[in-house]
Amino acid sequence: MDDIIGKILISEDDIKQRVAELGAEISRDYKGRQPILVNILKGGIIFLSDLVRQLEVLHEIDFMSVSSYESQTESTGVVRILADLNINIEGKDVIIVEDIVDSGLTLDYIRHILLARRPKSMTICTLLDKTATRKIEVPLDYVGFEIPDEFVIGYGLDYMQKYRNLPYVAVLKPGG
Ligand code: IMP
Ligand code: MG
Repeated sequence: MDDIIGKILISEDDIKQRVAELGAEISRDYKGRQPILVNILKGGIIFLSDLVRQLEVLHEIDFMSVSSYESQTESTGVVRILADLNINIEGKDVIIVEDIVDSGLTLDYIRHILLARRPKSMTICTLLDKTATRKIEVPLDYVGFEIPDEFVIGYGLDYMQKYRNLPYVAVLKPGG
């Protein structure tokens, strides 16, 4: 396992502190409201589960599972919904919770699908933001960390469906 885990980019302590800050910020912004946190499976689940325990506002959580049609490693931005939300978001305050925004294509697509359901408001919260690789502008309201263009694993992020359990975010070791 070790031969695939490269440099630790964000430590467990740094994540913990930043998630607490984001939770406080969202609690402040949503005071008196009851947002629905929409999580895109599977990468965002670790982040979501830590984030909601820092929230001081009543809220609901729901999940969406999507598969993006990928060409090799590049996301195409065309998304197929594998499992849809259970909650009707019309007239509700929605916060999309994502693990990472890379090209932005997947999130842009999901965002438009959800906006068509006419929520009262929609914001986006992502733990990681790879700004250098963005192909389409997506409005990010809450960002944990900006990271360079490197493939990262841990804290929900996978390499071939594994390593989501690492408590930190690390770079995938080249050739590992
Ligand atoms: P986008 O459509 O290019 O923004 O793709 C976003 C999705 O690609 C994320 O939800 C992740 O599942 C995946 N992804 C992008 N970069 C990484 C990475 O560095 N590690 C693991 N997954 C990644
Ligand atoms: Mg993913």
